[in-house]
Amino acid sequence: MRTKVAIIGSGPAGLLLGRLLENAGIETVILERRSQEYVLGRIRAGVLEQGTVELLDRAGVGDKLHAEGLVHDGVEFCFDGNRHRFNFRELIGRTVTVYGQTEVTRDLMQARDSSGLTTIYEAENVSLHAFDGDAPKLRYVKDGVEHQLACDFIAGCDGYHGVSRASVPQDALRTFERVYPFGWLGILVDRPPVADELIYAHHERGFALCSMRSPSRSRYYIQVPSSDRVEEWSDQRFFDELRRRVNEETADKLLTGPSIEKSIAPLRSFVAEPLRFGRLFLAGDAAHIVPPTGAKGLNLAASDVAALAEALIEVYTERSSAGIDSYSARVLSRIWKAERFSWWMTSILHTFPDTDAFGRRIQRAEFEYLRSSTAASRSLAENYTGLPL
Ligand code: APR
Ligand code: PHB
Repeated sequence: MRTKVAIIGSGPAGLLLGRLLENAGIETVILERRSQEYVLGRIRAGVLEQGTVELLDRAGVGDKLHAEGLVHDGVEFCFDGNRHRFNFRELIGRTVTVYGQTEVTRDLMQARDSSGLTTIYEAENVSLHAFDGDAPKLRYVKDGVEHQLACDFIAGCDGYHGVSRASVPQDALRTFERVYPFGWLGILVDRPPVADELIYAHHERGFALCSMRSPSRSRYYIQVPSSDRVEEWSDQRFFDELRRRVNEETADKLLTGPSIEKSIAPLRSFVAEPLRFGRLFLAGDAAHIVPPTGAKGLNLAASDVAALAEALIEVYTERSSAGIDSYSARVLSRIWKAERFSWWMTSILHTFPDTDAFGRRIQRAEFEYLRSSTAASRSLAENYTGLPL
């Protein structure tokens, strides 16, 4: 088999890249290790930057997003029981849209299926070959039979644990990493959310987040030590702890119910450099990880593939390699700004095991500054709703 761009991974990055290339008439094949049902079963964050919404619109996959997504004009911070709303629309005229990442994936998969494009699910042992030359290839096993896929370019959109980054010679890659000493325990409940917008809460006992998926489905998180296991957290214990970390009015309003999903996610910041190796490009979680505090994971993946699609389209339509030559530097500049913002949100809102009294006062001062300064509030708004590519 042969294609123009072989994409590894059918998460949001791989699927959106496929869609953007399809719209420019460039053929792709996606190889995905898991089944379609498995990919759609993963529950992930759900805040789309305005630029991501615009990109999905341009890609022609925005209908359901506009019908079901919730446009939020701002977010709230609750710091030691004091709530403050940051009104992004008033501050900078921008908004975010709450729409589950799983839904974005589903919309992109449906669009791809109805265009009749090839995705090979349950492709095992995907391996990358000759991407340092002009004729890269992928090999994989499907139903016990080995296949080869020849292509012009390979897009490594296979997430943090994927094979693409791992196939790059070690000395060609530099990585930067910070692992946080806690995780987020998240639950999904079929109860209306406690507030109209998201509440990011800082408390001495730890961070908490009140989020949502729809007017009738809530998503809540609390910071827990990395060593905790889900089994140690009954629904009752979870909600008791969540109530302690938000202000009294929020705690009183919280509607609890049986969890329909409960899991612990570790927090990590990670960036690989560079993101191009000959004819192989890395994008999305394969290239970088952010802690979920700034809700940047999917948004960064989307801006990576927007830039990559543009660069590849330039190769095919203008015979110019300028875009692919500058891809890595261009996206890394935005990636690092999102890394900085996610790290900063994480630092001010969480309780670190080694935070002393001085550190807590600094966190409080950050919050006081943010809420009293229009410049600081606008900076938060600009970063949260998404910086330009
Ligand atoms: N071969 C083929 N596919 C693979 C391989 C492999 N060796 N390894 C991983 N994959 C697939 C995974 O099964 C997954 O479906 O690659 C896909 C990567 O998708 P994501 O992990 O969703 O990553 P990405 O598309 O970059 O999306 C970024 O989604 O992961 C979240 O939090 C993340 O918000 C971020 C966004
Ligand atoms: C979520 O709804 O899952 C969510 C929202 C905002 C975040 C992280 C996760 O910052």
